[in-house]
Amino acid sequence: MSSLNTNLSANAHNGKSMKFVTLVSMIAALGGLLFGFDTAVVSGAIGFMQDRFDLNEVEVGWAVSSLIIGCIVGAAFSGVLSDRFGRKKVLIAAAVLFIIGSIGSAIPDTFSMYIIARIIGGLGIGITSTLCPLYNAEIAPAKYRGRLVALNQFATVTGIFLVYFVNSGIAGYGDDAWDIANAWRWMFGVGVVPGVLFFILLFFVPESPRWLIKQGKSEQALNILLRIHGEADAKQEVLDIKASFAIEKGSSLKEIFRPGIRLALIVGVVLAILQQVTGINAVMYYAPEIFKSMGSGTDSSLVQTILIGLVNFLFTILAIWLIDKVGRKVLLLVGSSVMTICLAVIGIAFHTGHTTGSLILVFILIYVAAFAVSLGPVVWVILSEIFPNRVRGRATAIASMALWIADYVVSQSFPPMLESAGPAVTFWIFGAMSLITFLFTMRVVPETKGKSLEEIEASWNK
Ligand code: GLC
Repeated sequence: MSSLNTNLSANAHNGKSMKFVTLVSMIAALGGLLFGFDTAVVSGAIGFMQDRFDLNEVEVGWAVSSLIIGCIVGAAFSGVLSDRFGRKKVLIAAAVLFIIGSIGSAIPDTFSMYIIARIIGGLGIGITSTLCPLYNAEIAPAKYRGRLVALNQFATVTGIFLVYFVNSGIAGYGDDAWDIANAWRWMFGVGVVPGVLFFILLFFVPESPRWLIKQGKSEQALNILLRIHGEADAKQEVLDIKASFAIEKGSSLKEIFRPGIRLALIVGVVLAILQQVTGINAVMYYAPEIFKSMGSGTDSSLVQTILIGLVNFLFTILAIWLIDKVGRKVLLLVGSSVMTICLAVIGIAFHTGHTTGSLILVFILIYVAAFAVSLGPVVWVILSEIFPNRVRGRATAIASMALWIADYVVSQSFPPMLESAGPAVTFWIFGAMSLITFLFTMRVVPETKGKSLEEIEASWNK
């Protein structure tokens, strides 16, 4: 009877603590929503801005890429800052940057003011894209870490999806010249709503227990871990985390390049780059253009773009369901092989001129589904969990920065590449990168499913 009681109370605790962790992770994942919203919003606004500011090709490029420049810088500083001031404070600062960015992009009368505001917003996105997954990984119980971190990617794709509707709603709303001329301002301005929500809710989440222990605040960390794991596990976890900091290895920057950790860094940086050079954002940022070039009208190209958002959204849910069951590696292997096949077929279709009908659309949708169930969420999950406690902030920041640089390179070079090399070759290059992802995962990427962060850390030292 007493063991029944103990089991019941343990179950009640598990239920309560899972609710707590899920809620906290959802708040942190709002950062993902801002990430998705802010990267996608410009696609709908750009036409209106071209009219308002009379932009040339280069300026259009800047209107889109200025945010990414901010993201690169934000990601670069996210590690140092969050190691120093804590994850929570830096996330709050990022929310402020995001709010300034949204207001600043909505109100300017000159194009350069707009660019400055987008860079500021980008700083916030660079920070949240790195720290939200990392924070979720640091508070999650090992068994559910994959799905709790993947919540962040779910929020990102929700943000991207939401923007299509917000933008088309605003674009269709205007009925006089003033409304139409100012539609783009509303598109950017709406971002204030999730920004303010994120800012307020962050005050209710606890600081990362792992960061607290690093600061010598074990009591506070224990209290948080007790709410997450229950008594026995929490005490053991504090000991494990403390032990991981006890290994004295010199300066943390030097430690990043120490042999065991160096391998983790290679895995992180290479996966981050591969997530981008397999072409997802060529599709995400330029889908309407790709479809128009195949002869679709503006309306049907918008419908096709919404279909992409929907598939991305649905298959990310599938990933959340699968990631802690089948593991990260299986998802990456299946996803990258399906992506390779799709990209090869799309290339062949362009090469042989089979661009009418829905062949290309179908394979683009399967490609997006395969990405959404694999590289999309899994890369962010792996980046948040493969690095040791002592260097996690800085090392994740390096990998995240590499991801944003790769994003910049792909999104800048895609239009000229379509012009010079043609679509067939362009998609084949993305296909070759997907094949490399498959091989790299098979040979080098470790499985982290179900292991505590400290167990993953120990595995690099073997
Ligand atoms: C991932 C990528 C991001 C991309 C998104 C698409 O979050 O990091 O660049 O836009 O997936 O769903």
